Amino acid sequence: MKQTERLDQLIMLLANGEFHSGQAIGQSLSISRAAVNQHIHKLEALGLELFSVTGRGYKLARPIELLQSAVIEKETPIQWRKAPPFEVRSVVDSSNDQVKQLASEGGLEAGFSLFAEAQTEGRGRRGKQWFSPFGSNLYFSVYWPLDDGIHGAMGLSLAVGVALAECFTELGIEGVSVKWPNDVYIRGKKVAGILVDLETLPEGPAHSIIGIGINLRVPEHVGAKIDQAWTDLSSELLQPVSRNHIAAQVRSFVLSALQRYAQNGLSAFEQSWRRYDCFLDKPVKLIMGQRVCLGTCRGIDENGALLVEDEQGVRRYFGGEVSLRAQDAIN
Ligand code: BTN
Repeated sequence: MKQTERLDQLIMLLANGEFHSGQAIGQSLSISRAAVNQHIHKLEALGLELFSVTGRGYKLARPIELLQSAVIEKETPIQWRKAPPFEVRSVVDSSNDQVKQLASEGGLEAGFSLFAEAQTEGRGRRGKQWFSPFGSNLYFSVYWPLDDGIHGAMGLSLAVGVALAECFTELGIEGVSVKWPNDVYIRGKKVAGILVDLETLPEGPAHSIIGIGINLRVPEHVGAKIDQAWTDLSSELLQPVSRNHIAAQVRSFVLSALQRYAQNGLSAFEQSWRRYDCFLDKPVKLIMGQRVCLGTCRGIDENGALLVEDEQGVRRYFGGEVSLRAQDAIN
């Protein structure tokens, strides 16, 4: 049995949140007590919180609901149940990189999605790390070809942001908003982010890989490392909701949005963007490296550029290294 398979088995064993003795773990994985110890350390390195109590063994701080393809499929609305396909993987570097690799091998269906339980090299926008502890959040990437080339990419990430906002609202959460270009907030705290990677092809069309990270239940020790206000769905939902159900819902909302975007472009999302835009008609500052611009947010244009009004009139800003804040934000 491979190392990774042993780790997966150990996680499955511990997922119920009960105590398991070192001896019992060793027996079911056919490994020595010393090897059990090493595996436990590897799980901790993946962000899992574990207790070890002499005489009782090892236990997760709380049970985890592992992602299961069959359950996600069952929870998926009929329209998206069978196609496009999706996969659940355990530990990956970055789900975007995994999908990129599959896309480069060819034959990937539009809308193919890959969920990961943990990422060792999860990436956020502007070169930031995306903390991706095992089994607590959602990390997934969707492959989407852009037949008209990369100019459709800006709008695409806004459409996906709206899809997430609509999905969280449907789950019963209030106070959901979107922040240009691709963050989702709940009452002013970030709950999800989107990272679109593009691969351009010489002939014009492009491939996009839409990476989505959603905070479901951020462990305390991980939350302490996040350098901005954040929340997670488990804190915002009135009752616990199954992780597999949320995965199924989010995937369906995103696929529906991608389909609508391909058919009608960003205009299909303008109204919804206005409904969720956290800065619409509010004073904002835009940070572009050393440069800071002040103005009033006037929403987005038909291509997804941000509109900011100052004394000179309304200016358009495109994605990249631009960062948008409330004018009174401290950082
Ligand atoms: C951001 O807000 O900075 C974007 C975060 C995007 C994180 C997701 S998690 C799944 C996918 N894989 C990655 O490495 N990043 C994205």
